[in-house]
Amino acid sequence: MSIMDAGLIEPYGGRLVDCRVSGIAAERLRREARHLPRAELSPVEAADLALIACGAYSPLDGFMGREAYGEVVQRMYLPSGLPWTLPVVLRVGRELAARLQAGDMVALCPPEQDPVGVLFVDDVFPIDPQREAREVFGTDSPAHPGVAAVLGAPEWCLGGPVRVWAAPDWPATALTPQESRAAFPQRGWQRVAAFQTRNPAHRAHEHLQKCVLEVVDGMLLHPLVGPTRSEDLPAPVRWRAYEILIHYYFPPERVLLAAFPGAMRYGGPREAVFHALVRRNFGCTHFVVGRDHAGVGSFYGPYDAQRLFDRFDPNVIGIEVLRFDAAFYCRRCGGMATLRSCPHGRAERVVLSGTEVRRRLRDGETLPEEFARPEIANFLLRAG
Ligand code: ADX
Repeated sequence: MSIMDAGLIEPYGGRLVDCRVSGIAAERLRREARHLPRAELSPVEAADLALIACGAYSPLDGFMGREAYGEVVQRMYLPSGLPWTLPVVLRVGRELAARLQAGDMVALCPPEQDPVGVLFVDDVFPIDPQREAREVFGTDSPAHPGVAAVLGAPEWCLGGPVRVWAAPDWPATALTPQESRAAFPQRGWQRVAAFQTRNPAHRAHEHLQKCVLEVVDGMLLHPLVGPTRSEDLPAPVRWRAYEILIHYYFPPERVLLAAFPGAMRYGGPREAVFHALVRRNFGCTHFVVGRDHAGVGSFYGPYDAQRLFDRFDPNVIGIEVLRFDAAFYCRRCGGMATLRSCPHGRAERVVLSGTEVRRRLRDGETLPEEFARPEIANFLLRAG
């Protein structure tokens, strides 16, 4: 059976999940929620809830129960046999866990907000955060921001399906999977590449994006705008940098810029596969994975993320991975290149690490034109 249906790629698991409720059903649940025990969501959990609700995490229709959690952490598969690489859990304290059992309902409250949904509890279970960190992130070092988040959260989980009447913190610039799936055919796009990013646009990004646009119909430029570590530039700054890039350097009709309101976990390889599966739900047929995708510090090798895809059946993953080597500006070539296309030595290359970029911006130093377009470099300097 083809995974293309009416010109669109089938959602992961075959069906776009929709956990949103409206109208009378929402009103009834909202009233009921007032009397339910409350689970206070972390910012990451609130972002997950919004994405579960609109089907971006299909086939997940809620937070993982014990079995799914165990299988995903240990084997990277859901109990149904579909690959899935990151746990999506709701962590709660021991006191709340002790009051709950399967069949109960819980009100879901994002930070400092009234309930936005309910969870129908299937499972209440404890986890071993150190073990999760080692399996998922390949380290239990608290210097890793994803590990620190896992180690710092309470040790019990509530699993079960959710119903949501108000997506927490859904930005006006985000599209739901339903909306992006409607937008692509309107633009006449069948082959759509998604580009995930959490950094301000630089020329290596642009190089990858331009290579991609040579072979697909259009690109969903999908910057992550949910919770990130504090060192990363704020989402509105990164967003504006992308608007500038498109304005000056892309044919606007070939790029759809939409916010991806997910959280960064810095999970490198596992997060790369997760990012790809989620973009399939948004209707994308291709996904860009370059150097050290979703990596942080030196926890992962530059191509570990690309290699993890080899562990899975590409027909099941369904979205095609577009792999790119590390791109740099080569002075001798007079343009962007990679080792696959450029014979010149290291001395000719202009390469700046993320740390160096942040330092320059902090110190009011401009970024070289070979690294960032001047319109973006000037904006970042002013914004910093
Ligand atoms: S990420 O955490 O979202 O992956 P980033 O915004 O830096 O971070 O990267 C977005 C995408 O571009 C990722 O697929 C990443 O691998 C790729 N990428 C970033 N910089 C380079 C580079 N210099 N060469 C090749 N690929 C790169």
